[in-house]
Amino acid sequence: MADSKKRATPKVEPSPSEAKPPGGMLSHEEMESLSALQLVDLIASELPAQHPSLMDLIYLRDRVAAIEEMNDQARQALEKLDEIVEKLRSPAFRVGTFLMPVDNDKAHVCIGGTDYVCRVDPKIPLVSLQMGQRVLCNEAFAVVQGLGFDRNGPIVRIDELLSDGRLRIGQEAGLMSLVLLRSALLVKEKLKPGMEVRLDVNQRVALEVIGMGKRIERSLETVTELPWSAIGGQAEAVQAIRDTIELPFLHRDLFKRFEHNVPKGFLLHGPPGCGKTLLGKATAYNLRQQIKERTGVDHPEFFLHVKGPEILNMWVGESERQVRDLFIQCRERARDGALAFLFIDEAESILGTRRAGRYQSILSTLVPMFCTEMDGLEPLQNVVVILASNRADLIDPAILRPGRIDRKIKVNRPDQPGAQAIYEIYLRETLPLAEPRADLARAVTEAHFAKTPSNQFLEIVFRSGRKDFLYRGDLASGAIIAAVVERAKSFAIKRSIETHQETQLTRKTCCMHCSASTRRTTCSRPRT
Ligand SMILES: Nc1ncnc2c1ncn2[C@@H]1O[C@H](COP(=O)(O)OP(=O)(O)OP(=O)(O)O)[C@@H](O)[C@H]1O
Ligand SMILES: [Mg+2]
Repeated sequence: MADSKKRATPKVEPSPSEAKPPGGMLSHEEMESLSALQLVDLIASELPAQHPSLMDLIYLRDRVAAIEEMNDQARQALEKLDEIVEKLRSPAFRVGTFLMPVDNDKAHVCIGGTDYVCRVDPKIPLVSLQMGQRVLCNEAFAVVQGLGFDRNGPIVRIDELLSDGRLRIGQEAGLMSLVLLRSALLVKEKLKPGMEVRLDVNQRVALEVIGMGKRIERSLETVTELPWSAIGGQAEAVQAIRDTIELPFLHRDLFKRFEHNVPKGFLLHGPPGCGKTLLGKATAYNLRQQIKERTGVDHPEFFLHVKGPEILNMWVGESERQVRDLFIQCRERARDGALAFLFIDEAESILGTRRAGRYQSILSTLVPMFCTEMDGLEPLQNVVVILASNRADLIDPAILRPGRIDRKIKVNRPDQPGAQAIYEIYLRETLPLAEPRADLARAVTEAHFAKTPSNQFLEIVFRSGRKDFLYRGDLASGAIIAAVVERAKSFAIKRSIETHQETQLTRKTCCMHCSASTRRTTCSRPRT
């Protein structure tokens, strides 16, 4: 190397005109296109094999090769950096919901609530995009990538299924009514009104069934046939219901003429098993029949039967939401021309007096909520609220004030004629009776109400020492009578199986069973 340095001669710059390219054969332009390494190789190839400068050229070649490699690496690093900077400075992509293809290369996409017809990158086959899925759009709003389906989004309840498969939603408070399309995921799904579905974030497409709303489980779309004649011994209660509900419906004009306030509902109260629930259901059936008979118009009934404790929910606000939901359903159906009944059984559990105790924090908001909903009901707009309770004294007075549920109808225990009427209902003519129905019913009722020692149900001992008895007849109820007949029937069936011949229902069988559950109890009262 030292030798080669010593031999180096000072370089004389030739003028461009006299510059003679190495190799002699190549033009100046061709020389320009060669890299430094190629030039060194070219010069070396022109020197004779024993030329003293060859070693220097080899050294020079190595240095040039190292510098060129370094340059290459630096260029690559710069290119990468340029690429990154370019990426970071480009605007964000948008995510939209793909709604449908428009042309071979265009798609209807909703981005941030606005609709666009976007070009689709030819690399993405349009058929691979599914209705309702997310797509990535660049700054020119061209679809450049298909993303999957959303995993989140608002949940709504289906109100109605339109004939073409679209869904109507949004009858709930605070929601606008909307008609939605089904996503590709729900095309074949069997949907029902009341189901809860999840929407895409743009609220254009239903994506997933989340669950079944509880609301429709409670409603009986039609009430079973229950004429007033199927209820025995409650003539007074039946008359009161008819006066309260049937008259205003049937004589609308007269009530308007007299500007008479029409009750929005009534409360049925009385001891257990005497027919409160039965009367509530019968009201719906009979009102429909009466209206049909008088006016010729048949309004379908919508009977929403709710048991008070079903509404109590530990989640804050859920009970209130359910009460509001009940009224919304009734109003909706009434608007569609149905006779809507909201029947709340065991009403004292949710509409009890607001006082201290368990669940009281719920009651203190449920009662005012119920009152507000009641105030919002227009009388005679086909929504009737019926409450039933065997502890009417526990119901908050705000519920029962005039203008809300101001009619209280007592459902008493049946007296002897009433009990006989109920026995006649259950001892049907079609059953194998041993004697005429009326005679059998009379005999069984007499046995049930007889003031005999075997019928003594409860012994009351007063402080004065006086004793009194409550007899089974004093505690009769429709439910007990129905149970007596059922037990007599089951006895007759067993006898028929044992004797291989049909056993009829006799007085003896029935009377025997009306005393079967009786047990004498003693109760002491502190005062006379
Ligand atoms: N007056 C009646 N006429 C005919 N059947 C009756 C009568 N009362 C009660 N029943 C029979 O008793 C059953 C229970 O009656 P219902 O459920 O209406 O009583 P309730 O007053 O609502 O009782 P609870 O207060 O316990 O809810 C009815 O399904 C019916 O078979
Ligand atoms: Mg009941």
